[in-house]
Amino acid sequence: MRVLGIDIGGSGIKGAPVDIEKGVMLTERYRIPTPQPAKPKPVAQTVAEIAKFFEWGGAIGCGFPAVVQQGITRTAANVHGKWIGTNAAALFSETTGCPVKVINDADAAGLAEMVFGAGKGRMGVVLLVTIGTGLGTSLFTDGVLLPNTELGHIEIDCEDAELLASDAARKRDDLSWSKWGKRLDTYLNRLEQLVWPDLIILGGGVSKKHEKFMPYLTVQAEVVPAETLNEAGIIGAALAGKPG
Ligand code: BGC
Repeated sequence: MRVLGIDIGGSGIKGAPVDIEKGVMLTERYRIPTPQPAKPKPVAQTVAEIAKFFEWGGAIGCGFPAVVQQGITRTAANVHGKWIGTNAAALFSETTGCPVKVINDADAAGLAEMVFGAGKGRMGVVLLVTIGTGLGTSLFTDGVLLPNTELGHIEIDCEDAELLASDAARKRDDLSWSKWGKRLDTYLNRLEQLVWPDLIILGGGVSKKHEKFMPYLTVQAEVVPAETLNEAGIIGAALAGKPG
């Protein structure tokens, strides 16, 4: 079955039709810069432009960087405040004319990794951390997702962990790989004390450079980079968009 997967991010909105049985994108992804300010209406119009580009008439799944409950976005850490309480699924259905499901972006990436990537067939507790502008988390037990965990916002030394250990923080503070790797390690150790994962999967663009910072990680859980990398957000969103 083919579902259009769309990954909504702070700087770009990317989409591609996905074969959700095989977990592969059927074309190159199509990307449009996120309109600024990224309020619901212009973002919904961009989502519709992506659907139009693929002449799409079927199911759509969207990953969104906030808590999403029954299609309603509940938080706005790195997005416009107008999203809080917006029925994103209804809004995107209206602009695209297609059935749309919306899921948290880290949960989407986690689904892709559990079905097709580094978490495939893994039982026990698996934690995926996506490292980008924000820190997103996705938690599975025996392959079942506990949605909207938001563990990127736990506090370390009275600071939001995302402000210390995200890739944006690494760039903002111009940190060396060793300095940032140690911050990430502090964060992962705190997570380990809270949820005791058997496996930690690190995703987001920076996971491509995993050999630069993995040597600084001291957690006892097995830690591996994501396998679906850049495509996880789109493939996972498509998985979540499956009708029914
Ligand atoms: C948001 C999460 C999101 C993560 C990654 C965080 O700031 O609170 O909902 O998954 O960023 O985009």
